[in-house]
Amino acid sequence: MSLSIDVGGVGFKNPCLLAAGVLGTTASSLNRVVRSGAGGVISKSISLNPKPGNKGPVISKTSCGWINSMGLPNPGVDEFIDELDRFSGDVPIVGSVYGSSPSEFKEVSNKIADYVDVVELNLSCPNVEGGIICKDPDLVYRYTKNVKSSVNKPVWVKLSPNVNNISEVAVMAEKADADGVVAINTLTGMVIDIDTELPVLGNQVGGVSGDAIHPIAVNAVYQITKNIDIPVIGVGGISNWKTAVEMILAGAHAIQIGSAVNKNINIFQEINKGIKQYMKNKNYKKITEFRGNAHKK
Ligand code: FUM
Repeated sequence: MSLSIDVGGVGFKNPCLLAAGVLGTTASSLNRVVRSGAGGVISKSISLNPKPGNKGPVISKTSCGWINSMGLPNPGVDEFIDELDRFSGDVPIVGSVYGSSPSEFKEVSNKIADYVDVVELNLSCPNVEGGIICKDPDLVYRYTKNVKSSVNKPVWVKLSPNVNNISEVAVMAEKADADGVVAINTLTGMVIDIDTELPVLGNQVGGVSGDAIHPIAVNAVYQITKNIDIPVIGVGGISNWKTAVEMILAGAHAIQIGSAVNKNINIFQEINKGIKQYMKNKNYKKITEFRGNAHKK
């Protein structure tokens, strides 16, 4: 039995990848995640110039996950390249890129291309001025095409559920020659402190992640995989092997784990163990034997 998978020509040891934004700012934390069993890692979104992030508080726990308004804090690509260079894991590394214009996405992607196996375009952060780039499918086409035309590494596009029709957006990414689509980023939300009677986050609104968004993510992956042929990487509220299997049954080639890592860094090996037991019980030898099976009904 094998957990290894191919995502558009890139081979991963197993389907459980670290999502962008969580433990992805230093090589040592990325290396630690690999030692905990991750099949691949996605680094924190990086922009051309350093970004301080939003005013705090930037993160808060909710009854069913987290809400954050980090605002993409990062040291800028030139400094971050040193971290990418120090990554020593024996699994693929995906570099997440953010920019405020197509040219910034292109420049940052080119700068990191030699240090990563895949470039992931973050077109879906809800915590930036101007809002989510992927709310406009034409922009998704433009931004993706621009990077694809100059970067010689596979390009994944990370999409948001905060749009009218996520499948339509995924189709535009595919048309622009993306090599994969990542679904979903966080959902816009708010928490209010009943003592101060004010929003908890400094930015007032933020992105909701964790258990609360899992069924939304499963539906997004299910709908997207009906409409495109390139691989879909599922993310959103995966916290145990059952939620991981659910995502693969919806059609995901691989999964990314974010919020749940905050509680348990060993989650990768635990989920892999559960997937193996599931495969043994069902007599599957490869992940591809059950990927997308929910579409058969
Ligand atoms: O605000 C943040 O850094 C979050 C980024 C994202 O959700 O893509």
